[in-house]
Amino acid sequence: MMGRLVFVTGAAGYVGSHCVLEFLVNGYDVIVIDNLVNCVITDGNELPESLIRVQHLTGKKIKQFIDGDLRDSHLLDSIFANNDIDVVIHFAGLKAVGESIDKPLLYYDNNIIGTINLLKTMKKYKVDKLVFSSSSTVYGEPEQLPITEHFPTGQNCTNPYGRTKYMLEEIMKDVCRASPDWSIISLRYFNPVGAHFSGDIGEQPNGEPKNLMPYITQVAVGVRQELKVFGNDYKTSDGTCIRDYLHIEDLAVGHLKAIDKIYNNNFPGFHAINLGTGRGYTVLEVIRAFEVATGVKVPYKIVGRRPGDACAVYADARLAQEVLEWKATRGLQDMCSSAWKWQQKNPNGYRSKINIVQILLSKL
Ligand code: NAD
Ligand code: UFG
Repeated sequence: MMGRLVFVTGAAGYVGSHCVLEFLVNGYDVIVIDNLVNCVITDGNELPESLIRVQHLTGKKIKQFIDGDLRDSHLLDSIFANNDIDVVIHFAGLKAVGESIDKPLLYYDNNIIGTINLLKTMKKYKVDKLVFSSSSTVYGEPEQLPITEHFPTGQNCTNPYGRTKYMLEEIMKDVCRASPDWSIISLRYFNPVGAHFSGDIGEQPNGEPKNLMPYITQVAVGVRQELKVFGNDYKTSDGTCIRDYLHIEDLAVGHLKAIDKIYNNNFPGFHAINLGTGRGYTVLEVIRAFEVATGVKVPYKIVGRRPGDACAVYADARLAQEVLEWKATRGLQDMCSSAWKWQQKNPNGYRSKINIVQILLSKL
C-alpha cells in the first residue's frame, strides 16, 4: 500500500482534516486542494492551520497543498497531468443548510459544477476511483427506521444543500452506468461530532453554530448563554428529536476502509453506504451525556421546532460492516469528551487570540 496517492478535495475542513490524518498514518501519500472558504490560514503559512496540526500529529508531510477551487478546470487539469493519482476523496463543498436556502445558486454552482469538473478531469486522466461525502439528508424524513440504503432518496430533501447531495449521487450513478470500470463509494454520513483525541483538530463553526454539539460546547465554555432545544413535542421518549451521532474518528476510519476497498478489490459501480452507529439519541440525552462526560452543566431552554427537522433519523449500519468491515467503536461519552477537549484547548477554534485582534485591527 505504501506510496499510493490520494487526491483529497476540501481536506482542510472538519471531516477532511481528520481523514487526512488517518490516511497519512496508514501509509497513503496525500495531495490536497482547498479554496479556503471555510478554513483558517495564517499569513506566511503555506498550509491551513488544520493541516499544519495534522502534519504535527502524524509526523508526516502532505505531499502538496493547492490553494484552489474545483470550479477552475485548468487548475484541475494541471494537477491530474502532473500527478499519478490513484484515488480521489471528495469532501469539498458548501454545507450550511440555511445559507443554501438563501443562496441556492451559490450551492448549485459550487457543489454541482465543482464536482462535474472533478469527474470530467478524472475521466480524461483515467482515474476511476472515487469516495464521495454524502449525507443522511438525502433520505429526508424516513417512513421507517432504521434507514437502509434502499430507502428512497431525494423525495423529501428540505433544502438546496441536501438536493446537491442527491443530485450528485444521481450524476455519479449515470457515470458508473456509462463506464463500467468506474468505482464510486458514496458515504452517507449521519451526524459526525467530536474531535481527534488530542484535542488539536476539531470542528470550527463559522459564527453562531447551527449544529447541536458545537452549540453545546460553546455554551459549556461560556461563549453562549444557553442552548435552545428545538421542540419537545415530537413522538420520542422525551419529545426531542433523535439523531445517530457518530464520532469523527470513526468516520475517518470509515473513509480509510472505503479507499482500501476500492483500491484493493474489484468493486465496480456506484455504492451508497451509510456511516452511522445504528443507535439514536434524543437532544436531551446528548445534553445529559455531555454533562456526565465533562462535569459541566449545559443551561438550555425548550423553544419551538426548527422548520425542516425530521423527528427521528438513525442508520441501519449493517452494509458498512458487510462491505467495508467497518463498525463505529466510540460511544456518545467519547464524542462529548473529545468535543469538549477541543473546545477547551481552542476556545477560538483555529484562530488564535492574536489573530482575532489582528482581524479586528485590520477592519479599523
Ligand atoms: P467543511 O466546510 O469543514 O470542509 C469543506 C472544505 O471544502 C472547506 O475547507 C472549504 O474551504 C472547502 N471547499 C468548499 N468548496 C470548495 C471548492 N469549490 N473548491 C475547493 N475547496 C472547497 O465541511 P465538513 O464538515 O468537513 O464536510 C465535508 C463534506 O462532508 C462536505 O461535502 C459536507 O457536505 C459533507 N458532510 C458533512 C457533514 C457534517 O456534519 N460535517 C455531514 C454530512 C455530509
Ligand atoms: N438542535 C437543537 N438546538 C440547536 C441545534 C440543534 O435542539 O441549537 C437539535 C436539532 O433540532 C436536531 C438535533 O439537535 O434535532 C441535531 O441537529 P443538528 O443541526 O446538529 O443536525 P441535523 O441532524 O439537523 O443535520 C446535520 C447537518 C446536515 C446533515 C445531517 C446529517 O446540519 O447538513 O446532520 O449528517 F445532513
